[in-house]
This record gives sequence, structure tokens and C-alpha cells, in this order.
Amino acid sequence: MCGIIGYVGKKTASPILYDSLKKLEYRGYDSCGVATVNGDGEIELKKGVGRIESVDKKVDFKSLTGKIGIAHTRWATHGKVETRNAHPFTSCNRHYALVHNGILENYVELKKELVKKGHTFTSSTDTEVLVHLIEEKMAHDDNSNLIKIITEVSQEAKGAFTFLLLDKVRKEIYAFRKDSPLIIGLGDNEFFASSDITSFLEYTNKAIILENYQLAVLNEDCIVYDVSTGLKIKPKVSTIDWTAEQASKSGYPHFMLKEIFEEVEISKHSLEQDPVKLKAMIEVLKKSKKVFILGSGTSYRACLLASIYFAQIAGKQITPVLGSEYKTYQNLVDKDTVIFAISQSGETADVLEGIYLAKEKGARVVSLVNVMGSTIMRESDQYLTLNAGPEIAVASTKAFTSQVLILTLLAYGLADKLNEGKDNLNEIVSVLDQVMNLSETLVKLAKDVLNKDDLYLIGRGSSYPVAMEGELKIKEIAYIHADALAGGELKHHTLALIVPGVTCLALVPNDQTKDDMINNIMQIKARGGEIIGISSENLDVFDYYIPIPQVHLESILMIPVLQMISYYLSVIRGNDPDFPRNLAKSVTVL
Ligand code: F6R
Repeated sequence: MCGIIGYVGKKTASPILYDSLKKLEYRGYDSCGVATVNGDGEIELKKGVGRIESVDKKVDFKSLTGKIGIAHTRWATHGKVETRNAHPFTSCNRHYALVHNGILENYVELKKELVKKGHTFTSSTDTEVLVHLIEEKMAHDDNSNLIKIITEVSQEAKGAFTFLLLDKVRKEIYAFRKDSPLIIGLGDNEFFASSDITSFLEYTNKAIILENYQLAVLNEDCIVYDVSTGLKIKPKVSTIDWTAEQASKSGYPHFMLKEIFEEVEISKHSLEQDPVKLKAMIEVLKKSKKVFILGSGTSYRACLLASIYFAQIAGKQITPVLGSEYKTYQNLVDKDTVIFAISQSGETADVLEGIYLAKEKGARVVSLVNVMGSTIMRESDQYLTLNAGPEIAVASTKAFTSQVLILTLLAYGLADKLNEGKDNLNEIVSVLDQVMNLSETLVKLAKDVLNKDDLYLIGRGSSYPVAMEGELKIKEIAYIHADALAGGELKHHTLALIVPGVTCLALVPNDQTKDDMINNIMQIKARGGEIIGISSENLDVFDYYIPIPQVHLESILMIPVLQMISYYLSVIRGNDPDFPRNLAKSVTVL
């Protein structure tokens, strides 16, 4: 969702801000803007609605001069998608410009007061209130102490309000974090402040991950304050092991395709977990009386699959719960409960809300995340990381595969069969390149057979959540209506929709579900439906066949097959798979 970036240094700010904005694009946005302090010491600002490149063509962001500036990608929440609602916003006296990530909950009351005091608002956003509030308070403080004023604002404002304030007089950026992430990049005589490490990775991999209520003042130096005490602090500087190359398309037409193909390499790293942390995680899960495994969207599908493997491999019950549905279970949670949060971004608001509520009941929180330093990671008592590198495409692919591999490894760990698990999962990893070689077959199937208005996917046992993930992806990026169901459910409802010409992807792993799946396939064929089988065996009942290598846990190998199908369908239908409409990468609102 919204992305913020600030730069101060020796170079002209606007080209750097423009490039960094492009790297924030993947988070999802509808408008964008840049403000700098120009050579005359004035704030200059340009913004507009639409993709960064097209706004730039109209306003020419790079014509902004000055060596300090802030920029923003907006995903509308309060106020329509209009230029006047795009960030940055300035104070009435244009001493300050501000960009914000989050939702200011009490903006209506604050705005009323500020209007009474004579402030003029130009937008319908919650954000604009912040810059006027700071201006108002500064006027009563002889424009002296911005740190004190930001402390007061942090006490009065409610909600999530991470912001960058550009001060034209001091030529400083005040980078404040409350709930939405904010990372300071420490370059060579230059500083960055951003929602996302990848936006400044080209310039530096040294970063300070700000905590809530921390404020970094950036000029020729970077000083960090804890505004709850007003004291300077010595923050921890982390070295980020992601590279700028990882966050680029590297010759692929889309990030999504690159990330699917990266699974061959990434999966190895995902399984190379720190043995001490892995053991500790296994112990906590083993000893827990109750485990709720929490996720949203694709990550929730990983939770579903994990609950099946934990049951089958380790005989351990874990309850999969959607982040947004967590409250339903709150009265079952106590101090003997473990909340296991699964999230690529580590910032998903639905999951975070569940974590905060569970903590109130004394539950222990553990997590599996991809983004180091993310909020979910920091709210966890212990965590494992996916080691999947930056995932840029909105549709999660490599992170899902990594989640599934690590969760399955944990299931083996709980069963005291870690070595057997490693062997089985490494076997999968070793044949992933063969699955990637299916791309030509899949392009042809996508063009000739699957490009329909409705698709059905059936699976059973472990292949059912995989079918659900295929359904999600097909809807998300191909904009095709898809329906995944457990094969046994057909006869209870959806068989009513099976008529001649209906296409169904059948996931048939070589396991105990195979005979029942064949039975379900026959029910579909008896009504004229056509079957595309994904299996290690070419069964007579298939009209089309997608061959996967024969391994233990074959369902996992079907994941990249369905990811590629959704990708090719999206491209064939003229969509941009990296930017599905109305969706954002990091979903930081409830
Ligand atoms: C779909 C997709 C989303 C995310 C969901 C949770 O392809 O990517 O459904 O899985 O928004 O995001 P994380 O994993 O960051 O918590």
C-alpha cells in the first residue's frame, strides 16, 4: 500500500526519489508525488494520478531541484483518487511538506479544530491534518523545537501515522514511525528514509529499522530519538543481505515470472534454516497445548497445507485461521496457546491485529516471515525467515513455495524425523527445474484450453489447499472466475455447474487420495466436463496431461505449475501480472 521515501545528501534528490518511487510501485498505488527544497530554499512540489511514468510525463518530477526531498505512492483510503489528494501536502506557510503511510483515525476532530484556527485544507485526506497540526504547534512554540512538537503530535494522533516531514528552513527530514514500517538507509554522505529497504538498496545495504515512536532527524547526520522519552538513542545498524539485482527483473518480462523461476534456487536457501532456531521453533510447537496458525490470502493457503502435513506427518493438530477471522477464536486463546503467524511481508494488518489481541491473552507468538525487521517479526517471541529474497510481484509465488517447504520441514521436526523430511524436501527441490521446463506446454494449454470465463480446480488432502492457491492466483492476475474444491464436495453442490465444455484442473498426487480423485474425475467426465490432469502418472481419465516428476509429497510440485498457468493466462489476456487491479503487495489496512 502507500510507500514513502525521503532523500538527503550531496546529489540532486529528484532523480533518486523518482527511481526509488519506481521501486515502491509494487506495493500498489493509484497516485504519486514528490517535493523538494529547491535552490531558493522553497518547497517545490509535483504530483498526479496514475502510474509514476505517466505522471512524470505530465509533470516532469526530475525537473525539481534541490538535494533534499520526499516522495510518495498513494493507495487511496480517505479521499478519492484525485491529484489534490495525492501526497505530499504542505502547511499553509509552505515551511513544511509531509508524506504519510497509515491511517489517522481521529483526523475528523483534529481537522475541525485546525479549520477553526484558520488552516486551509486542500484535500479530503486524513494525512493533511498532520502537516497543519505540526505547523499550528510550531507557531505556538516560536518555531523552535520540532522534536518536542512531533512528540506532542504522536500523543494526540490516533492510528497508524508513519510520516516524513520536510522542513525547508532547517533543510532536514523528520522521519517518524508509528505502526507502518520505516527504515533509514545509511549511505555515503547521504541518508534515505523509506517504507521499504528495496527502494534504496542500490545505494546502501546499511539500515536502521525504526521502532514505533522513534524519530530520525536527517541532515548531514542521522540522529535517532525515542520520542516517548525525548532522549537520543543509539540505534542498531543492520546489514541487509538482499542485493539490488535481486530486486530487479534481470531480463524477465515480469517480476512474477522471474520469482517463479527463482524458486529452483531459493528453495535450497529456505531449507537451510539455522539449526538452533529451527530446533527452538520445533520445541515450542511440540510443547504447546494449542496452536493457531494465522495468515491471509496466499499465506493462509500455506497455513491450510501446513495443518494437513502437521496432522499427517506429526499427528499434531494446528488450527488454520484467516488473519481477518482471528477474533472468532479469541476466547479459545490463553497463555498456553501458540499463535504461529505466516506472512511474506510481515506487515499484514489482519494478521497483526490477531497477534496484538492474542498477546492480550498471554499467548506466545512465533512467526515465519520473509522481510527482516518487519513488524510481525518484531512482535514475535521467536521467528524463522523464508530466505526467499525480495518478492516484488504483488502475487506471491516464491514466498509461498518457501513457506510450504519450511512448514513441512517443521512437521517432520515435530515427528522427530527431521532428516527424513530434509531428504524428501530436497528431492522436491532437485526436480523443480524439470517443472519449470513445463513452461511451453503450459503456455499452449493456457492459450488453447484454459482461457475461459470459468475454471474449476479439484484436489483432496494436501492437493486441496494447493488447488485453492491456484484458484486464488487465477482470479488475482488472470481475472478469470475460478473455483477450487475438495473432490468429495462436488456431489454436494458444484456438480450442478458441470456441463459439456466445462474445464477442470485435477490435481492427482500419487498418494492415498488418488483413487478417490479418479472417482471424482469420472463424475465430472460423466457430465461432459474436460479434465486437465496434473500428476506424475498419465491416467486414462485425463483429456490433457501435465506431467510432474514422481516424488514424495507431490502436491508441493504442483504449486509452480499453477503459478505458471495463472501467469500465462494473465499475459494472454493482456493483463499486467505484476500489478493486479485494486490489489496491493503489503496490505497494511484492516
Ligand atoms: C496473493 C497474495 C496475497 C498475500 C496476502 C498476505 O498472491 O500475495 O494474498 O498472500 O496479502 O500477505 P503476506 O504474506 O505479506 O502477509
